[in-house]
Amino acid sequence: MKRITVPQFQLFKERSEKLVLTTAYDVTFGRLADQSGVEGILVGDSLGMVVQGHSDTLPVTIEDVLYHTRCVSRGVERAHLIADMPFLSYQASVSIAVRNAGKLLQAGAQSVKLEGGSEISETIYKLAHYGIPVMGHLGLTPQKIHQFGGFKIQARDENSQKKILKDAKVLEEAGCYSLVLEAVPSMIAQLITQSVSIPTIGVGAGPYCDGQVLVIYDILGFDKSFTPKFVKKYLNGDEALTESLRSFVLDVKEHKFPAQENCFDL
Ligand code: KIV
Repeated sequence: MKRITVPQFQLFKERSEKLVLTTAYDVTFGRLADQSGVEGILVGDSLGMVVQGHSDTLPVTIEDVLYHTRCVSRGVERAHLIADMPFLSYQASVSIAVRNAGKLLQAGAQSVKLEGGSEISETIYKLAHYGIPVMGHLGLTPQKIHQFGGFKIQARDENSQKKILKDAKVLEEAGCYSLVLEAVPSMIAQLITQSVSIPTIGVGAGPYCDGQVLVIYDILGFDKSFTPKFVKKYLNGDEALTESLRSFVLDVKEHKFPAQENCFDL
């Protein structure tokens, strides 16, 4: 099966074809996502919240993302595999960023994602220069939640709108091959999408982006208490899975499982 490549991401934008991405954190969901036909699978630092149970992504380490990237990569043949660079894995210096990004490619990713604007443009330039493709990430960048005061919609006032537009252009110039726009008003995402030649991937950024990404557990409705406006649940996974597990519990309690067909004869 042919792998979706960085140059192909660009072709999607040129042909006005939507790119679809989701996340995965293990081989099973990597394989399921790959079978679904998504163009990209992100080993997101959202794993800190949906896998590790933290209230934000800051505790995630490069070792965590390396481990999950290795797991996911064993299940993905076609989709482009992107590894998130977690907090402190790229901010301290360009050389630390290059070393960590390189390790993520060695773990099976084909590109890396970094959160931030012009403050990381030199890092992006160097990564791209060394052949490490970079997906940018602007808007609500969760590694900065303490600065934002929580998970809040970004780019609502004129100054921050000007800044995000400028940052998008700087990231394109620095060498990003695509750009995640998270939690920004649709019209701002549209303006950015029209102003850069690289594809934009929206999450809570409206319909005008070149592509969309959602966390896989959100698509599958695994957490019934998580109901943000930007998510569409394609499965009531919380109930469906709990029901199936309840049936297993009941079957064992009522001596219905294992049945004859589940047993080995001599
Ligand atoms: O960590 C993550 O899953 C992400 C996506 C929501 C874009 O950054």
